[in-house]
Amino acid sequence: MREAFAEYDGKLPQPSGALRETVEDVRRAMAEGGAALAFIGETGVGSARYLLEADALYVGRVAVLPGYRRRGIASALMAFMEQHAREMGLTRVHIGVRESLPSNLALYESLGYERVNVEPHDADRSWTMIKPLSGQ
Ligand SMILES: CC(C)(COP(=O)(O)OP(=O)(O)OC[C@H]1O[C@@H](n2cnc3c(N)ncnc32)[C@H](O)[C@@H]1OP(=O)(O)O)[C@@H](O)C(=O)NCCC(=O)NCCS
Repeated sequence: MREAFAEYDGKLPQPSGALRETVEDVRRAMAEGGAALAFIGETGVGSARYLLEADALYVGRVAVLPGYRRRGIASALMAFMEQHAREMGLTRVHIGVRESLPSNLALYESLGYERVNVEPHDADRSWTMIKPLSGQ
């Protein structure tokens, strides 16, 4: 996760919290929800975390190592999360995406997520993007 988010260090209007997280922070977050790791062979190349809500799965910290991008790993992680949510009887998956990262907004839109709400995130703005799972 840190290696994936490192490119944002000093570049975003509001620094990513991902770069400040300790191993203990990550452990605590995973204990509250869960996480998925993507492997190519024995190499860990991507990760994402989730939290369970009343009827939704909240996904965060989606991360793919720079050398392994644009080959569908984030898409595969999101497909895994959506399947996991369906198996738990949840009706939607949502994620927060910064307005300052339009390629990320495009990625989730291409996966069927819709922008539903935008809120100030200190010096940036954060979009809530939702994908309904019912009927699929
Ligand atoms: C965002 C991130 C997770 C995407 O991972 P990825 O494995 O490269 O994504 P995918 O290969 O599944 O992308 C699927 C589609 O998203 C779009 N997409 C992905 N990266 C893009 C980019 N840099 N510019 C434009 N579109 C992009 C494309 O439509 C792509 O389809 P294509 O490969 O057929 O063109 C990765 O770039 C990353 O770790 N970034 C740093 C951390 C971060 O911003 N995490 C997201 C937090 S919300």
